Parts: sequence; C-alpha cells; structure tokens
Amino acid sequence: MNLSGKVALVTGAAQGLGKAFSESLLSQGAKVCLADVKVQQGKTTAAEFQKTFGNDSAFFEKCDVSIADDVTNVFKKVKSKYGQIDILVNNAGIANETHWRKMVDINLVSVIQGTQLGIEYMSKEYGGNGGVIINVSSSAGLVPVFITPVYCAVKFGVVGFTRSVAVNPRNRSTSGIRFCCLCPAFTDTDIIKFKKDSGINMKYAPKILKSVGINK
Ligand SMILES: NC(=O)c1ccc[n+]([C@@H]2O[C@H](COP(=O)([O-])OP(=O)(O)OC[C@H]3O[C@@H](n4cnc5c(N)ncnc54)[C@H](O)[C@@H]3O)[C@@H](O)[C@H]2O)c1
Repeated sequence: MNLSGKVALVTGAAQGLGKAFSESLLSQGAKVCLADVKVQQGKTTAAEFQKTFGNDSAFFEKCDVSIADDVTNVFKKVKSKYGQIDILVNNAGIANETHWRKMVDINLVSVIQGTQLGIEYMSKEYGGNGGVIINVSSSAGLVPVFITPVYCAVKFGVVGFTRSVAVNPRNRSTSGIRFCCLCPAFTDTDIIKFKKDSGINMKYAPKILKSVGINK
C-alpha cells in the first residue's frame, strides 16, 4: 500500500506500539490522528511528530476508547480535519485481571465499535475509499497464558471477531477494506510493567518475561 497522502487513525498512540505504528506511517507519508486517554503524553508525542514530519502531519485527540461517544467523536474529528480515513489501527489496550470488565471494554468492545465505525467511514459502499483496518490482538489471542486468563479471552475475541468480519462476503466484495489482526509477542512497553493492582501473579510473570529475554 502506498501510504503517501493516506490518513490513519491510531488508538493508544501516545506511547508504546501505537506510537511506533504511527511513526512508521508518518515516515512513509501518511497523516495520523493519535488518539489516547493519556493527554500529556499524547500531546508530547504529537508535538514530536509535528516537528519531524510537519505541522499538519499529526494531531492528538483525547479519546477513552471505553466511552462510546469519545470513539464516535474521534472519527468525526479526523474526517473533518483530513477529509478521509484510509487506515484504522485499533491498538489501545491494558492488562489488568482485577479490573477485568474495564479491560473487556477497552481491549474488545472498543475494537468492535471501532471496526464498525471504520466500515461506516471507510467502505466504498458508503462513499469512502476503502483501506485497511488493523486490530491489535496478541500472541495471547492464539495460545493460553495462565497468568492472564481474561486478557487471553479478550485477545482471542479480537482474533475471532476480526477473522469473522474479514470473511464476510459483503465486506470482501464491496467495502474495499482489508481486515487484519496483529498478534505481537512480548514487547518491552509499559503494558508489561504489570502494576500492583493488575491481578497478575507476580510469582510467575517475571519468570515468563525472563524466558523471552525481558528483565523486569
Ligand atoms: N507489549 C506487549 O508485550 C504486547 C504484546 C501483545 C499485544 N500487545 C497489545 O499492543 C497494544 C499496545 O500496547 P503497548 O504494548 O504499546 O502498551 P502501552 O501500555 O505502552 O500502550 C497502550 C496505550 O493504550 C492507551 N490506552 C489504555 N487505555 C486506553 C483507553 N481507555 N482509551 C484510549 N487509550 C488507552 C494507553 O494510554 C497507552 O498509550 C495493546 O492492545 C496490547 O494489548 C502488547
């Protein structure tokens, strides 16, 4: 895909993988809306990108993906600023087995809402240009991880949802959208710092991380 002149919306883009995805898109000529619940970090990241890639290349929009109106609003903002959306990366996520309902909302419900809105804004059937929707799951969406059963459940959900949408004959024939699911393995970002209230068994977590070369 030639990214020059394309417009991307990336959730959870203030830091970590979302920031890295955004930087890669920008470096290939796309414009990016960085959506995140972390306002200060998001603004700092946007300023950094504007300095490197140009003032109009990126902007930050506060969005808590677990709040339906916030998600709707960010799509409207991108459309009104850049006129189109070609790439959507549903990336925002947390790892918290204690506040598991919140995690289901952030990691799965928002991906479903984002994908549905993505189709509305991007499908050729509704006047869009088509494009690509990338839902970020995890290797924990493919194999069990006993220290994070709910995280696994939601990430399996992201895989099942995305694959089902992708094989829908209507989406395949008329939308012009490709639906992809990304399943990263452990990557050294904040999400694997596993906060005290995360409900993740700290007897095992550091050993599992160490086994893949990450020392925490
Ligand atoms: N790092 C890993 O090992 C790993 C492995 C597999 C999958 N993932 C997935 O990659 C994605 C990105 O995680 P990361 O590793 O960059 O972690 P991270 O914690 O560095 O980044 C997550 C981002 O999501 C944002 N976010 C959290 N809740 C939000 C909300 N309600 N609304 C909007 N934004 C919110 C955070 O503010 C943060 O900027 C997540 O979906 C995660 O599950 C990460």
